Amino acid sequence: MIPRLPFPRKIQLARAGTPLERLPRTSDALGVEILCKRDDLTGAELSGNKVRKLEFLLAEAQDQGADTVVTCGGEQSNHCRATALAAARVGLASRVVLRTDDPASPPATTGNILLDRLAGAAVRWISRPDWARRNAIMEEEAAAVRADGGRPYIIPEGGSNAMGSWGYVACAAELADDLAALPSRPTSIVFACGSGGTAAGLALGAKLVGLTARGVKVAAVNVCDDRAYFVRVIGRICAEMTGRWSLPESIAPEEIEVVDGHVGLGYARSRPEELETIRDVCRRDGVVLDPVYTGKAFHGVVTELARDRGRFGERIVFVHTGGIFGLFPAAAELAPLL
Ligand SMILES: Cc1ncc(COP(=O)(O)O)c(C=O)c1O
Repeated sequence: MIPRLPFPRKIQLARAGTPLERLPRTSDALGVEILCKRDDLTGAELSGNKVRKLEFLLAEAQDQGADTVVTCGGEQSNHCRATALAAARVGLASRVVLRTDDPASPPATTGNILLDRLAGAAVRWISRPDWARRNAIMEEEAAAVRADGGRPYIIPEGGSNAMGSWGYVACAAELADDLAALPSRPTSIVFACGSGGTAAGLALGAKLVGLTARGVKVAAVNVCDDRAYFVRVIGRICAEMTGRWSLPESIAPEEIEVVDGHVGLGYARSRPEELETIRDVCRRDGVVLDPVYTGKAFHGVVTELARDRGRFGERIVFVHTGGIFGLFPAAAELAPLL
């Protein structure tokens, strides 16, 4: 029985109640039961983990009377694409600040960038060095909205703050129901971590809905930065949630599991073996992972299991957080493996 939780108001955007599906041939190949929580099926164009966060963030934007949302991300940001599309769904304008190597010669309008533009987002390109001042740059954008008589609402990188992370408390509650229907076995919930909000929501959510008490572990595979950075970020978001909504649970730093060592060449840079894992999972079970997040994280799982078959227990719930549009810009790298 899941306790009543003080969920903030949300707008309905995600096709939630996503399936939990066994990947039979991947399970055989890896020697561990792999179940996939299909959060890549939260929608078609509005798909992936960001949609669950945006349900809460855009409700707050509406409650504050905003007419424009401002956010930021990498050039092929799934979060910016989902924000631009979700904003259009509810009648808000959007401005996205995108990081690229050379803002004077921005990348081709493909993948997520195409969808940003299609949804009418105003795009501002910034350089990698300027990324360090992304919050100040978003403030500049917000000031420009105000100067035009508009009312901005800023969403931080990845939608990863206390409000957005409620989306993954909701997912933890779904997982509690999904797992209650299965025979109990040592289980880990494993997923890609890029800005920490999914991890914060799942870690705190697992405690709030009783999964942690039943021995279920939550393990985030970081696709950028490192363990120390994410323990700090996830801990900060969880502490803010616990404080702001007076939650009966909190998360201590030692309860945050970050599976480090799988960033490889760096954020959004793929090693051939990561792309091979994407190909293998697709050929075995027809599930499409993306190169930046889910493919890199799943390759991390494969690597950890090769070292220690029992690393995540007998059953792994891999949360597929979406990202399919990031696959197409990687076509040239993938083609030689096909
Ligand atoms: C497809 C996909 N998976 C996982 C993540 C990581 O989630 P989070 O930013 O909440 O750590 C992101 C975004 O960063 C994403 O776009």
